[in-house]
Amino acid sequence: MRSHLISLSTLLFVVDHAHAAIFPVQARTRPNGIYARADVNASTSSNGIPVQNTHNAEYISNITLGGVSIPVMLDTGSSDLWVATNVPGAKDLGKSVTLSYAVGQAAGDIHTAQLQFDDYTVNDQAFLMVTNTSSFSTDIGSQGYNGLVGLGPNSGSVIYQKIDDSTGDAVLNRIFSQNSTSQNFISFTLSRLGDPMDNIPGTFTISQVIPGFENITSMPKLSVEKVHKLTDADQHWQIYTDKNGVIGPDGEPIEISSIVPSAPDGQLVVVLDSGFTLPQVPRAMSDAIYGRVKGAEFDTSQQVWTVPCDQLLNLAFVFGGVTYPVHPFDVATSDFNYTDANGNPKCIGAFQPITSAFSLLGEYDLILGMAFLRNTYTLLDFGDFVKDASTDPGDPFVQLLPLTNNASAHTDFVQVRLNGVDTTGDAAHALLPASQMQHSPETEGEKKKEREEEILSRWPYILVGCLAFVLLCVGLCVWRCCCRRGKGVKGKKGKGGQAAGILGNNPVYQPLSEPAPPAMNMHPMGQSSYSDPYGRR
Ligand SMILES: *[C@@H]1O[C@H](CO)[C@@H](O)[C@H](O)[C@H]1NC(C)=O
Ligand SMILES: *[C@@H]1O[C@H](CO)[C@@H](O)[C@H](O)[C@H]1NC(C)=O
Ligand SMILES: *[C@@H]1O[C@H](CO)[C@@H](O)[C@H](O)[C@H]1NC(C)=O
Ligand SMILES: *[C@@H]1O[C@H](CO)[C@@H](O)[C@H](O)[C@H]1NC(C)=O
Ligand SMILES: *[C@@H]1O[C@H](CO)[C@@H](O)[C@H](O)[C@H]1NC(C)=O
Ligand SMILES: *[C@@H]1O[C@H](CO)[C@@H](O)[C@H](O)[C@H]1NC(C)=O
Ligand SMILES: *[C@@H]1O[C@H](CO)[C@@H](O)[C@H](O)[C@H]1NC(C)=O
Repeated sequence: MRSHLISLSTLLFVVDHAHAAIFPVQARTRPNGIYARADVNASTSSNGIPVQNTHNAEYISNITLGGVSIPVMLDTGSSDLWVATNVPGAKDLGKSVTLSYAVGQAAGDIHTAQLQFDDYTVNDQAFLMVTNTSSFSTDIGSQGYNGLVGLGPNSGSVIYQKIDDSTGDAVLNRIFSQNSTSQNFISFTLSRLGDPMDNIPGTFTISQVIPGFENITSMPKLSVEKVHKLTDADQHWQIYTDKNGVIGPDGEPIEISSIVPSAPDGQLVVVLDSGFTLPQVPRAMSDAIYGRVKGAEFDTSQQVWTVPCDQLLNLAFVFGGVTYPVHPFDVATSDFNYTDANGNPKCIGAFQPITSAFSLLGEYDLILGMAFLRNTYTLLDFGDFVKDASTDPGDPFVQLLPLTNNASAHTDFVQVRLNGVDTTGDAAHALLPASQMQHSPETEGEKKKEREEEILSRWPYILVGCLAFVLLCVGLCVWRCCCRRGKGVKGKKGKGGQAAGILGNNPVYQPLSEPAPPAMNMHPMGQSSYSDPYGRR
C-alpha cells in the first residue's frame, strides 16, 4: 500500500510545476523603465545566492552539478532534483524514474554527481538526469531554467523512495546531515518585477539569515502541520492560518471552513509552495476576493477571475498573530497578457480557485505560491525532517517576516496602475454589497472531488472503523463456534440458535484476504486527471 500511496502522491507533487512552467508563455512584463532590477547582483555567496525572476512566474537559482552550472527552479512544493541537461561524468545508478508534470514527463535515470549549492558541496548527490524532453510543451530553457530543485521534506522525494536508502536523500537532507554545525533551515526572498518600489533582491540562503532581515528570527515559529505517517510522501511545508486568518478586500475576514478533518475550528491549512505561480484557494474564497468588484468577470475556460486593472484590492493573511498584507499588484496581476473577449486588457485574480491541485486526501485547503511569497521573507526550518542531524532535532517550523507595507503599496499602485491619480476611493471602485457578489460556477468535476475528499480524508478513521468491525465479527464467529461446541455437548437449545439466526450463514463482513475497501485503494485519486486550464495553452 505504501508504494501505491507514493506513486499517487507523485501526481500531487507534480501538478505544482504546471503553472510555473506554463505561465511564461503568456507572460508579459511591464513597459520599460519601471523594473526593479535588484536581483541582478543581489548578494555574494557568503550571504546566500541570487534568485532570478522570470516574469514573476518562476524563481531560479544556479546549482553546480558535476562541474556544470545549471539554472534550476526553486520549488518548496517537491523534494527531487532533476536536470534536463547532460552532466558529464555523472554515475548512472541504472534506476529509471518518471516524474509527470503538466508540461510533460521528466523521465530518465537516477545519477549521482558532485553538487555545489550555495556554499555547500555534496559528493554523490542523487538526481534525475532527464534525457528526453520531447514531451515538454514548453521550452524550459527559454524560460531561464534547465531543471528543478525540490526544497521539501525528504519523505516526499521519489528518488529517495526508489533508492530506498540515504544515498538517495534529497539535496537539503544531504547538506543538513553532513554538516551538523549548522541550523537546518533555508530562507528566501522573491523579487517583484513591475514594482517601482521593490528594492528587495531575490535571495536564497542555507542555514543563514539574509543580512538586514535578522528580525525574522523573532517572528512567531509556526509549527508545520504534519500529515499522517502513511501519507508522509505528501508532506508539504504547511501551516495553520489564525482563526479568521484571511482578511478580504472589505477589511473583513473571509470565513471558509477547512476540508482538513484535524484543523481547529475556523483555521485553514496553507501550503507554502514556491513552485506555484498563482496561489490556489477554495473557490468561495476566490469569489469573496474578486466577486464584488465592479466589472469582474470569471473566465471559465481559464478558471480565473478577471478584474479591471485599476481596481485596488487589499488582501491579508494572519499567521501566529501577525498580519501579512499582500501587495495589490499580487492580488490582481497584470503579469499575464490577459485580454477579455472584446480585446480589452484585464488583470487576473491571482488567488485562483483550487481545481487541479485540490487535496483529495483532505490534507490542505490552500496553496500559497509566488504571488503570496513575494510579500514575505520566508524561513523554513527542517528540524527533525532531517533524521540524522544532531544539532537541530526540534519540530520543523516556518517563520515569515512581512515585507509589504500596504500604505506604500497603495502609493505604488496609484503610480503604476492609475497614472498617479488616486481614484481608489471613487464610487466606481467601491465594492458591490455582499448580497450582489458574483459567484463563479463550480464544475461537476470539482463537486465529485469534494465528495471523494469527504471520504478519503477520513480514511484513517474508516480504516480503524473497518478493523474494529472485522475484529468484532471475528470475535462473534469465535464465540459462535465455541457455543456450538458447547451445544454439541449440551444439546441443540438455547441462545446459540438465536445468535446464528442474527448472523445467518453469510458473513456480512469482508474477509481479510479480499481487497481493501475502495477508500483504501484510493482509486479516485488515480483517476483524476489534474487537468489544468493553463496547461493546454
Ligand atoms: C550591483 O553592481 C553594480 C556595478 O557592479 C553596483 O554599482 C551596484 O551597487 C550593485 N548592486 C548591489 C545591490 O550590490
Ligand atoms: C547563473 O549562471 C549564469 C552563467 O554563469 C549567469 O549568467 C546567471 O546570471 C546566473 N543566474 C543566477 C540566478 O545566479
Ligand atoms: C559546515 O558548516 C560550517 C559552518 O557553517 C562551514 O564552515 C563548513 O564549510 C560546512 N561544511 C561543509 C562540508 O559544507
Ligand atoms: C522521447 O519520449 C517520447 C515520448 O515522450 C518518445 O516518443 C520518443 O521516442 C522519445 N525519444 C527518444 C530519443 O527516446
Ligand atoms: C526588529 O524587531 C525589534 C523587536 O521586535 C524591533 O524593535 C525593531 O524595530 C525591528 N527592526 C526592524 C528593522 O524591523
Ligand atoms: C500582449 O498584448 C499586446 C497587445 O495588448 C500584443 O501586441 C502582444 O503581442 C501580446 N504579447 C503576448 C506575449 O501575447
Ligand atoms: C491596509 O490593509 C487593511 C486590511 O487589509 C485595510 O483595511 C486598509 O485599508 C489598508 N490600508 C491601505 C492604505 O490600503
